[in-house]
Amino acid sequence: MEGVIDAVTRSLLTRSSGFDWAVTEFVRIVDARLPARVFHRHCPELKSERVATPSGVPVHLQLLGSDPRALALNARQALCLGVTSLDLNFGCPAKTVNRHDGGASLLRDPRRVERAVAAVTAAVEGRIPVTAKIRLGFDDRRLALACARAAERGGASQLVVHARTRQEGYRPPAHWEWIGRIRQRLRIPVVANGDIWTLEDYWRARTLSGCRDVMLGRGALADPWLAPRIRHWQLTGERLPATPWSARAEILAAFAAEQRSTLPARTVASLIKQWLNHMRQRDAEAAQRFATAKRHTDLDALLAALLDPVDAEPASRRIADRRRPAPA
Ligand SMILES: Cc1cc2nc3c(=O)[nH]c(=O)nc-3n(C[C@H](O)[C@H](O)[C@H](O)COP(=O)(O)O)c2cc1C
Repeated sequence: MEGVIDAVTRSLLTRSSGFDWAVTEFVRIVDARLPARVFHRHCPELKSERVATPSGVPVHLQLLGSDPRALALNARQALCLGVTSLDLNFGCPAKTVNRHDGGASLLRDPRRVERAVAAVTAAVEGRIPVTAKIRLGFDDRRLALACARAAERGGASQLVVHARTRQEGYRPPAHWEWIGRIRQRLRIPVVANGDIWTLEDYWRARTLSGCRDVMLGRGALADPWLAPRIRHWQLTGERLPATPWSARAEILAAFAAEQRSTLPARTVASLIKQWLNHMRQRDAEAAQRFATAKRHTDLDALLAALLDPVDAEPASRRIADRRRPAPA
């Protein structure tokens, strides 16, 4: 996820079990072949032999672009640098990206999705998998299936579907049943994405889409133990208790310790607030901590406010999990 899931965050989120793979922030492809340092900056995991997080979770490099020739050039470059999987972004709703003909703007013409995917799969000559991610459409869902089929015809080996159109932005609900319609008509694996915040959401998304796998976005930032919670439930049928504030504080502190070795302290403070902002959407104590912590620009004062037991509520109270019944 652009601007939020860098290599440090990937490393921390995958310390516990639950993730089968992770994706880099996007490399924006315009025309020329980009220098190696750009790929290394987006994917420091290229230094590891398996292109994986320290805990061994494979990392896929994400490309965002629309010109098939430029995408092919850069896919080739990525392959030479040792990338083990490429993911193409046809979902980004950002106005600046769409104005420059990238991300979800290609969903207006399925032929362009097919050409982009085909150019990249041809460039890597089947040596690494090429996957794609789409939304259900740009303005409406009329071309949802056509775009999914186009990605498959282009040679994508897997398709992630964010169950909303570009027009719908991030507004709930995610239309998981639409992912099911697509899944039934494709031969490649389809992965369900959108609004999976809890174990119950996971269960409903799986049930309504029929997909075996899901992709977590904001939910994994809001609750870094969502993926382990899902995996634990898959393996044992047991529900783990709600994530306590102390566990959230620990991951934020580890994030700060790692980031401050390379970034200015003020930048790290902003990044911590950005992550805390995701956490507060779904957790009462994180919301309370955010209210106190947001005024701090000094990193150490910010961390003290997050770690201070005096500020804590007696127990972290979950906001969102109350809406839906537990899976059977
Ligand atoms: C800050 C932010 C950055 C994102 N960056 C990307 C991206 O680089 N590539 C992509 O395919 N989707 C990106 N997305 C979309 C998410 O991957 C995901 O499809 C969307 O948020 C819905 O899933 P969620 O409800 O689990 O977050 C981003 C979303 C957010 C909120």
